Amino acid sequence: MIIKNVEFIKSATKPAEYTEPMFLEVAFAGRSNVGKSSLINTLINRKGLVKTSSKPGCTQLINFFLVNGNLSFVDLPGYGYAKVSKKVRAQWGPMIERYLTVRETLRAMVLLIDMRREPKKEEMDLIGWFTAHAVPHLIVLTKADKLSKTKQQSNISAIARCLGRGQETLIPFSSKTRLGRDRVWQELDAILNNSF
Ligand code: GTP
Ligand code: MG
Repeated sequence: MIIKNVEFIKSATKPAEYTEPMFLEVAFAGRSNVGKSSLINTLINRKGLVKTSSKPGCTQLINFFLVNGNLSFVDLPGYGYAKVSKKVRAQWGPMIERYLTVRETLRAMVLLIDMRREPKKEEMDLIGWFTAHAVPHLIVLTKADKLSKTKQQSNISAIARCLGRGQETLIPFSSKTRLGRDRVWQELDAILNNSF
C-alpha cells in the first residue's frame, strides 16, 4: 500500500458521532499503552499523526482517520488502565462492543497484545466478540524490540498456546524497528480485497 495522504476526521463515543459509513474500515484495539497509536503511525508512515504517549490512557475516544481518501482507520481507546476514572473504565466495554455491533463498514480488526505479557480476559473477550460478529482479525504482538530473539520466540509460543492458535497466526511487531509492518499491510490488503 502506497500512502499518499492521511487525515484525522473526528473523535466519537457513540454511533451518532461516527463518520459516515462510506469506506471500508479497519479498527485497532488493545490494552492501554500496548502501542495502537504507534502501530497506526508506522502503517501510515507518519511519526506523529496519531498522538502517542508514554502515559497510558492517552486515547479515550474512538478516533477516525481517512487513508488515501478511501480507507478508514479507527484508533480505539485502550482498556485496562487503572488510573483513568471508573466512569471512563466502565464505558470502555460497551463503547467497543457497540462499535463492533453496529459498524457495517468494519472489515477487519487488529488486536494488539504486548509481546511481554500474557493475554488476559479482555483479549479473550475481544477475540470472542470478533468471532461472534464474524469480523476478520489480525493479532499483532507489539514491542518485539524490547526482547531478545530467543525470548521473542518463547513468548510467541506461550501466547499462541494461551490463545489456542498457531504461532504462525501471530504477527511480531515493533514500531521502533518497523518489524512486521509489511506483513500487517499484506494481511490487511488480503482481507480488504476479499470484501467486495
Ligand atoms: P493508549 O492510547 O493509552 O491506549 O496507548 P496506545 O496503545 O495508543 O500506545 P502508544 O502508541 O501511545 O504507545 C505507548 C508507549 O509505548 C509510547 O511511549 C510508545 O513510544 C511506546 N511504544 C509503542 N510501540 C512500541 C514499540 O514497538 N517498541 C517500543 N520500544 N516502544 C513502543
Ligand atoms: Mg493511543
